[in-house]
Amino acid sequence: MPMSTSNPTSPPTLFSPLSLGGLALANRIVMAPLTRVRAGARGVPGDLMVEYYRQRSSVGLIVTEGTYPSLESQGWVGAPGIATEEQGVGWGRVFDAVHASGGRIFMQIMHAGRAGHPEVNGGRRILAPSAVGISGTVFTERGRLPFPVPEAMTSDDARRVVEDFVSAARRAIQAGADGVEIHGANGYLLHQFLSPAANQRVDEYGGSPEKRIRFVVDVVTAVAEAIGPGRVGLRISPENNSVGDVSETDPQDVLATYGALVDNLRPLGLAYLSMLHGKPTGDLAAELRQRFAGKFLINSGFEGGQTSKEQALRQIEDGHADAIVVGRALIANPDLVERWQAGHTENEPRPELFYASVAEGYTDYPRYTLN
Ligand SMILES: Cc1cc2nc3c(=O)[nH]c(=O)nc-3n(C[C@H](O)[C@H](O)[C@H](O)COP(=O)(O)O)c2cc1C
Repeated sequence: MPMSTSNPTSPPTLFSPLSLGGLALANRIVMAPLTRVRAGARGVPGDLMVEYYRQRSSVGLIVTEGTYPSLESQGWVGAPGIATEEQGVGWGRVFDAVHASGGRIFMQIMHAGRAGHPEVNGGRRILAPSAVGISGTVFTERGRLPFPVPEAMTSDDARRVVEDFVSAARRAIQAGADGVEIHGANGYLLHQFLSPAANQRVDEYGGSPEKRIRFVVDVVTAVAEAIGPGRVGLRISPENNSVGDVSETDPQDVLATYGALVDNLRPLGLAYLSMLHGKPTGDLAAELRQRFAGKFLINSGFEGGQTSKEQALRQIEDGHADAIVVGRALIANPDLVERWQAGHTENEPRPELFYASVAEGYTDYPRYTLN
């Protein structure tokens, strides 16, 4: 009898297939959303981005870099958007290239909120739950500048931003994306609503955990209704206090907030929940996973170095998640799946080129060759 590597009765490994939102993923390695600022002033993916994503098509699922849904929501100089027709056409070329190589791809939709700057978004409004700025500086067209004090969103603003997410998701699907990931992590707009430090509202969107989750639930629900829940994932990063002054420091409040969030999302039947956390195999992750009751993806963030093969293998084999989100190792190794599977050595990432606008440090990491 021939040996089978995908016996459905044996526990999954990192290299086992996974069914997610109706898609058949070839393995359980998910490329993390990674902002690489190579989309130029118009935010349109060009040949360089097409090649970068195509090179990485052997992961089970690619999640694109954070992509802005409206012009005002751009948070990084050189980031891509999905706000204009032209941007949709550019992304269509990326999706086609990935699909032609047998890959799957979700677009991460990211609204920067108060992490933006008028010198990044073309002088447009900077919106946030409350008029509370982030300490420190942000990289802009004119170098590093202090974060601005944002405008507190009105209820009309909130409704319009939900619509912006819906339009962006529709445009992504029309362009050929397999789905979208809503960015609810790392101190950007949706995370700002969840955070008791950034969200000081006293209306239906602020105060108790149940009110702070409302905007995120509204966005995810509206997008799921528009394009189908199986095409929608959400990324969260509870207690990621290293970014954007979100200051989620009270464990009871964190559990109440994120617990309520996943309870509200569970009935939607989303494709997945992706959690970035310093302890992705800890109690909080286990509880949120159990209450979410759908596909659960993990990433350990920036604690303890970049995700390693040993860590990823163990996390799947110990049953902590359905798939592992991998960032920097995939920046440096377009053929990471093949290298991990064969036990080959890895290229080292060059962080000084993470946010350069050139091919160097982007599409020039070599594939493995036997010398
Ligand atoms: C250059 C770079 C850009 C990133 N951009 C994003 C982003 O656009 N959206 C996001 O959710 N996380 C972003 N992250 C976080 C990664 O998705 C991931 O959580 C982080 O790199 C830790 O995983 P790793 O150890 O496997 O690299 C970024 C990280 C890096 C290094």
